[in-house]
Amino acid sequence: MENDILLEADHIQMTFPQKGGELHVLDDISLTLRKKEFVCVIGPSGSGKSTLVRILGGLLEPTGGKLVYPDGKEPEPRAVVFQNSNLLPWLHTVDNVALPLLVHGVPKNQALAEAEKWLDLFGLGGFAGEWPNNLSGGMAQRVAIARALIQKPQLLLMDEPLGALDAMTREQISLELMAFRERIDATVLMVTHSISEALLLSDRILIYSGRPARIIDEMKVPFPRPRKPELRDTLEFINMSKIVRKKIFERESES
Ligand SMILES: Nc1ncnc2c1ncn2[C@@H]1O[C@H](COP(=O)(O)OP(=O)(O)O)[C@@H](O)[C@H]1O
Ligand SMILES: [Mg+2]
Repeated sequence: MENDILLEADHIQMTFPQKGGELHVLDDISLTLRKKEFVCVIGPSGSGKSTLVRILGGLLEPTGGKLVYPDGKEPEPRAVVFQNSNLLPWLHTVDNVALPLLVHGVPKNQALAEAEKWLDLFGLGGFAGEWPNNLSGGMAQRVAIARALIQKPQLLLMDEPLGALDAMTREQISLELMAFRERIDATVLMVTHSISEALLLSDRILIYSGRPARIIDEMKVPFPRPRKPELRDTLEFINMSKIVRKKIFERESES
C-alpha cells in the first residue's frame, strides 16, 4: 500500500546558544505532512516558526528529535519561499526564475522557456527582461514563488511569503495561490499571520504557542475544492474565522 505521509517531525526541539545561556525556541514539535496537502501554521512572532521552516527545509539541524520519511527517502526537491523575495539583483527576472533549472543542468533554452511560462501564469510576462530592483514588492514575491514552483517541488515551504506586502496585494496573490493549488502536486506548508489566508488556502491549520513553541491546536479546514474567492463572504467561512481566532487568543491569554 502506498504511504500517503510525506514527512513526519518527531519531537523536534531547537535550542540556540546565546550570551550567558541558551534560547529554547522549539519545545516539542511533532507533526505529519501528507502528500499533496496544504498546511498553514499560525502563531505569535518570535515563537520559532521560521526556525521550523528551516528545519523542515533541511537548512538547519534540530538539536533534538528527528524528521522521519516514511517512504525512506527525503522529499525532493524542497523549495523555500521567504518573506523577502531574495532575488539575485544581477540577474534579469526571467533568469532568476530559470536559475534552479539551470543549476540542475536543464539546457538554457528549455529553462528560459519554462521560466517565461511561469512568469506568464503570474501575469508577469512583460517583465521577463526587467531587473529585480525595478519590480514592486508584490511582483518580486510572485517571481520568488514562480522560482519555487518551476522546480516542481515535492515539498514547498513558504515562510510568511506575503507578510511584507500591502493588504490589497496580499489578498490578490493569495487568490492566485488558491488557483495554483489545483495545478501543483506539492505538499505545502505555509506560515502566515492571516486567518483568512489560512482558511482560504489550507486543508489544515496548526496553531503554535509562544516560545518555547509547541503545536497547541490543529483544525481541519472543511471547505471543498476548488475554492472560489466568494467563499470568504459565506457564513461558514466567517464562523470558521471566529473559531480560529478564538483558539489563538484563548491560548495567548493563558500564557
Ligand atoms: N541562528 C540563530 N541563532 C540564535 N537565535 C536564533 C537563530 N535563529 C532564530 N533565533 C531566535 O529564535 C527565536 C525564534 O525565531 P524565529 O524562528 O525567527 O521566530 P518566528 O518566525 O516565529 O518569528 C527568536 O528569538 C530568534 O532571535
Ligand atoms: Mg518568522
